[in-house]
Amino acid sequence: MKNNKFINKIICADTLELLPKIEDNSIDVVLTDPPYFLDKFDNNWDYEEVSNQNNQYTIKSLPAGMKFDREQGKKFYSWYLKISEEIFRILKPGGFFFSFSSPRLYHRMASAIDDAGFEIRDAFMWLYTQNQAKAMGVDHFIKKMNIDEKTKQKIKEKLNGWKTPQIKSCFEPIAMAQKPTDQTYLNNMLKHEVGMFNTNVKIGDNMYPANVFTVDSINELIDKTFLLPKPTKKEKGEYNDHKTVKPLAICEYLIKLSAFSKNAIVLDPFIGSGTTAVAAKKLGKNYIGIDANEKYVKISEKRLKELDEKPDLFRNTEIVVKQEKRSLQAQLQIA
Ligand SMILES: C[S@@+](CC[C@H](N)C(=O)[O-])C[C@H]1O[C@@H](n2cnc3c(N)ncnc32)[C@H](O)[C@@H]1O
Repeated sequence: MKNNKFINKIICADTLELLPKIEDNSIDVVLTDPPYFLDKFDNNWDYEEVSNQNNQYTIKSLPAGMKFDREQGKKFYSWYLKISEEIFRILKPGGFFFSFSSPRLYHRMASAIDDAGFEIRDAFMWLYTQNQAKAMGVDHFIKKMNIDEKTKQKIKEKLNGWKTPQIKSCFEPIAMAQKPTDQTYLNNMLKHEVGMFNTNVKIGDNMYPANVFTVDSINELIDKTFLLPKPTKKEKGEYNDHKTVKPLAICEYLIKLSAFSKNAIVLDPFIGSGTTAVAAKKLGKNYIGIDANEKYVKISEKRLKELDEKPDLFRNTEIVVKQEKRSLQAQLQIA
């Protein structure tokens, strides 16, 4: 088997060079969080550059992630089309492809997946409440205008509270795509052991799985329907300096929904600090992780080793749905 040397390993390679070495129709689920193609977070992601990136706002240039460069979306599309074509080849018929993205470039990513032959079945949404607002005021520029102080003051008052159009970003979209099934869903499940979703998986307060999830406790109604266990302080690992670590519970939720076979292989072509692999291993599934940066490969391997040695670090927190004073009925009326 060509895949044997990759199974349950984290491989340091450029994904576009490694994917062609994986067998056709052999992978059950691809779950990944690729570079979003904003600023330095692209397919040439450099560990040092990203680690030293200054997240602070500057006046001269826009904050990280907010420079508008039309070319980035186009580059993302053509690169992700090649990646998606390879993923299409290696997935089993009916296999799933979950791909995280940013609200700004989701359309480019989803189009690349679609054009590679996948059926885009849904868009999932990771909802959160905490994020740094990136909008900029224009007082600094008004100050520099060649006009008298009184007029400057008038403009400032007129534009009070108005900022560049970047409000607080509070969700991440995730494309959910499927390789077309081999005849019916039933046939596909019996023959390839993939292709349907496990509706025994629950979210929130024992609710039917939804395409919206959060790991922040928000309010009673949202927690009841969409809450997944919060990341524990320890699950990331103190040594882990990756900038975009995903909550383990989200990866677990998506794997539980989609990976049916006992021998399922979950592949993450942009494994970063290993979250997808840790989730797959925790659930007794096989994994293959790929990352171009040696430092992240080492971090992933360390986390996987910790899962064997200290499984308690990765145990999910209990979901506690806050009981609010206001009744659910009253909340629905207000909404
Ligand atoms: C958004 S991060 C993934 C983070 C991960 N979900 C986690 O929880 O740690 C994307 C990863 O893709 C890697 N990467 C970027 N370009 C790559 C390429 N061409 N081939 C392989 N890996 C690449 C980066 O090194 C980075 O770690």
